[in-house]
Amino acid sequence: MKGRFWVFEGMDGAGKSTQAGLLFDYLKAEGRNPLHVREPGTTNLGELLRKLLLDVDREDWHPRSEALLFFTARNELLYRQVLPELEGGRDVICERFTPSTLAYQAHSEEDIAFVLGVHNLVVGDTFEPDGVFILDCSPETSFERVARGDLDGFEKRGLEFQRLVRSGYHKFASQYPEVSFILDSDKFSIEEIHEQLVKLVGGYGSRN
Ligand code: TYD
Repeated sequence: MKGRFWVFEGMDGAGKSTQAGLLFDYLKAEGRNPLHVREPGTTNLGELLRKLLLDVDREDWHPRSEALLFFTARNELLYRQVLPELEGGRDVICERFTPSTLAYQAHSEEDIAFVLGVHNLVVGDTFEPDGVFILDCSPETSFERVARGDLDGFEKRGLEFQRLVRSGYHKFASQYPEVSFILDSDKFSIEEIHEQLVKLVGGYGSRN
């Protein structure tokens, strides 16, 4: 029996890591043995790329160059860790995946087509997430929450950029409604969203 692949998405500060952590604890308490990973990162190469992407000023980088680096980290994580674990029956909780690249690096039809094309090359139809949970909040909330801490390169891009990211996620959800679930973190508490997630995850049968 294959494991299930749950992806957490959302703007910076939307509560992705909190909810991914709570789902991890829940699955563990249920006696499963989930794996929690994040993009970019987790693997050695992924963590190196994370440093490069988040710590330097990339203002003059081409968005497609950025996208390719994220896919390099994704390729490494997928084939070194995620797929073997799923094949072995382990559930994987992944913070960010291709929807992030669509939301952050693809704001024109051409760039969307580029990202989907690279996705097909790297990920193909090898597997699909069982669910993409999009933690949604207003760009103002997101901006306010991240502004409290140290801003990384992406977060420094400001409110207008968060609006673009949000609309990218909504576009993704309307194009892939069978796997996407938008969870409103402005409206619901952390506990309420966690309860919704437990129901969503519990509603899935095992893969075979
Ligand atoms: P991270 O700290 O993981 O996110 P958060 O701030 O939500 O905790 O930072 C990852 C950053 O990288 C985040 O701003 C989104 C960005 N990113 C992309 O632009 N494209 C991608 O494909 C991925 C995976 C992340």
